[in-house]
Amino acid sequence: MSDMSEPYPIVEVKPKWVIDREDMGTKTKFWYRDPDADANWLFKYPRPNTGEHWAEKIAAEVASVLGIRHAKVELAQFEGDRGSATESFARGGRALYHGNELLEWTIGGYNPKKKFRQSEHTLANIFAGMDRVFAKPKDASRAKRTLAEYAVLDALIGNTDRHHENWGLLRRLEGNGLRGILFLAPSFDHATSLGRELLDERRDRFLKENRVGGYVEKGRGAIYWSEDERHGPSPLELVRRAVRTYPDLFRPAGLKLAAIDEHILSQIVDRIPSDWMTSSARVFTVALLCYNYSQLKEIV
Ligand SMILES: Nc1ncnc2c1ncn2[C@@H]1O[C@H](COP(=O)(O)OP(=O)(O)O)[C@@H](O)[C@H]1O
Ligand SMILES: [Mg+2]
Repeated sequence: MSDMSEPYPIVEVKPKWVIDREDMGTKTKFWYRDPDADANWLFKYPRPNTGEHWAEKIAAEVASVLGIRHAKVELAQFEGDRGSATESFARGGRALYHGNELLEWTIGGYNPKKKFRQSEHTLANIFAGMDRVFAKPKDASRAKRTLAEYAVLDALIGNTDRHHENWGLLRRLEGNGLRGILFLAPSFDHATSLGRELLDERRDRFLKENRVGGYVEKGRGAIYWSEDERHGPSPLELVRRAVRTYPDLFRPAGLKLAAIDEHILSQIVDRIPSDWMTSSARVFTVALLCYNYSQLKEIV
C-alpha cells in the first residue's frame, strides 16, 4: 500500500493504448488498454471548469475507506489533458446490465429511455426489481444492502447523478452462456459530486456565509422517493427517509460509516496533487464531506 500522505500517482495514458470510444453518457471519454495491465480503463475528461476528475478520485478513495465496492480510479493525463481513469469491471466474462434494463424487465411500464426527471426511478422500484430478478431471496437481499451502501456513499460525497445508467448488475456468463450469476456491479461514475461544478468564488462565499449545508440540502438526487415527486430528494434526504423505511437494509452501511474516523476524509482530499485542485476547492470539499458525515452519523 502506498504512503497515506503521498500525493496520488498520475497515470500517463499513451495514444497507442486507445481502443474504443465509449458512446454512453454525455462527456468525452475513451477506453484504453495498457499492454502491461489486465483490464481496460476508461479515460474521462472533466467538463471545462469543473473538478470532475478529482471528484472521481476522491469518491473512489472514500468508498475504499468505507469498504464499499467501487470501480478503481486513478488520476490520469492524455496528450497533455488531465482527467480520471476508471478500471473496467466488465471483464472475465462479466457483462454489465444497467439499472434501466433491470427496471424495464421487472417494473411494468418503466421507461428505460427517459433521461431527465425519471421519477419512476424510485428506491422502492429498484428494490422491487431486485426482488424479482434474483432467483434466491438471499441474493436479492445482498444486492439491496449493497445498493443501500451506494446510497450512503452518494449522501456522503453529495453525488446527485445516480440515475438508471449509473448503477447496474453484472452477470458472469457460465458454460454455454445461457446461465449466469448476477450481482450488483461495483459503484461507478461519481463525477457529479463534491460540488465539482462550483467556481471558487461561490465556494468561498458558501464557506464564508456558513452555507455548505444549505448547498448540500438543495441538491437534487437522481433516485426518487415517490413517483409523484417533481424532483428527487437530495442524496442525504433520500437516506434520511430510507433508513426509516428500510432499517435492516441500511444497517450495514451505517456500521461501515461509523467505523471510519472523520480525519481520514481530509487526508483523502489532501492527497490530490497540489496543482490539480485549488485551495478553495479543497476547503469546500472537506467541509462538504464533514457536513454530510455528521448528518449521516445521526441518521444511520
Ligand atoms: N468501471 C466500469 N466498468 C465497466 N463499464 C463501465 C465502468 N465505468 C463506466 N462504465 C460504462 O461506461 C458508461 C459511461 O461511464 P460513466 O462513468 O458513467 O461516464 P459519464 O460520466 O459520461 O456518464 C457507463 O454508463 C457504463 O456503461
Ligand atoms: Mg454515467
